[in-house]
Amino acid sequence: MNPSVLFSPFPFKNHTLRNRIGVAPMTRMSSQHDSIPRQDVLDFLVRRAQNGAAIVYTEAIVTDYESAQGYPGQARLVTQRQIDAWRPVVRAIQEAGAVAIMQMFHCGRVGWPEVNPAGRIIAPSPVSPRQKNPLTGSPYPIPDEMSIFDIAHVIQGFVETARGAIDAGFDGVEIHGAHGYLVSQFLSPYSNKRNDGYGGSTENRYRFAHEIVQAVAKVIPDNRLLTFRISDWGVVDMDVSLFGNKSEYQEIIRLLSRERLDAISVSTYDFTKMAFGTDKRMAGITREVTDLPVMICGKIYDRASGEEALRDAEIVLSAKSMLLNPNWVEDVREGKVLPVHKSDEANVAYTEKPLP
Ligand SMILES: Cc1cc2nc3c(=O)[nH]c(=O)nc-3n(C[C@H](O)[C@H](O)[C@H](O)COP(=O)(O)O)c2cc1C
Repeated sequence: MNPSVLFSPFPFKNHTLRNRIGVAPMTRMSSQHDSIPRQDVLDFLVRRAQNGAAIVYTEAIVTDYESAQGYPGQARLVTQRQIDAWRPVVRAIQEAGAVAIMQMFHCGRVGWPEVNPAGRIIAPSPVSPRQKNPLTGSPYPIPDEMSIFDIAHVIQGFVETARGAIDAGFDGVEIHGAHGYLVSQFLSPYSNKRNDGYGGSTENRYRFAHEIVQAVAKVIPDNRLLTFRISDWGVVDMDVSLFGNKSEYQEIIRLLSRERLDAISVSTYDFTKMAFGTDKRMAGITREVTDLPVMICGKIYDRASGEEALRDAEIVLSAKSMLLNPNWVEDVREGKVLPVHKSDEANVAYTEKPLP
């Protein structure tokens, strides 16, 4: 076998990653009224660190008690109890030799009133997704167009949640700007129809993300990591290209690259797919316009696909293989023949059955 890039160390800010493999963020919907994940869900993250992952991302943690939530049983990280619940988990991940990063998001128009204590649904524009909510079978409600007050308030939610993560000891935080959730809704002309300073031109559509990154960066000590996740697809209306073309996407990557970010995490269904009608993949198109480390995710399932994905990226993330195979990192190292897992296999993530 050729020398492995996948198992070579990587200098990531003030860390040296032991390999290039991370656990992708995975929502588990296990939190009760206290917005604290079930203990077995927390233990799962520690086990993945003990079994060789170099980075462990948390599930997407929602940023407020009013309108951020999009699924039942999501976690928050703003109360002392929530912080205290995560602190030993973070410590155990670090003691196992991995870097722990908290991902946070606001669902925007993909939220629904019943799961949000204040029952409010907000988005850049009062346009709901075409698709019905798969969990309720009902159409998504038409969201309220966010006021300037709403925008400032939501940014504050990201800041408070980042502070919670820092207090809990996380090595870094990620702003979830992917998958058609709120930050992504502002970036994309598909969902952002505003004609104020937050809509219209690329720079205006980027403004909300910029303000979040700036505000969050202020509460993150210099030695902690700040990453941003991006995708050209969303969890609803999945057929839509959120950026529409390569130059629009690359302009957003250029703007992100001017921020105090430590990596851009690119999420795809399948990292090998050519993007925007070009003969280049998403990671390659990202790499063309940024010097930041690139993380890539999407159907990386064995040693060969992992090494291949690193041709245009520094770090690979896996969701389904990490979820379903506790020994995945070792199996990859040994070059075992491994399966590509289907989406419905991942439904075990949302059951009460503890995962090995
Ligand atoms: C159970 C499950 C939950 C997920 N939750 C999140 C999430 O909270 N945040 C996020 O950015 N992506 C989430 N994803 C998407 C994954 O991080 C990843 O981008 C996607 O599954 C493709 O990677 P894979 O082919 O390795 O599974 C989730 C995926 C799965 C399977």
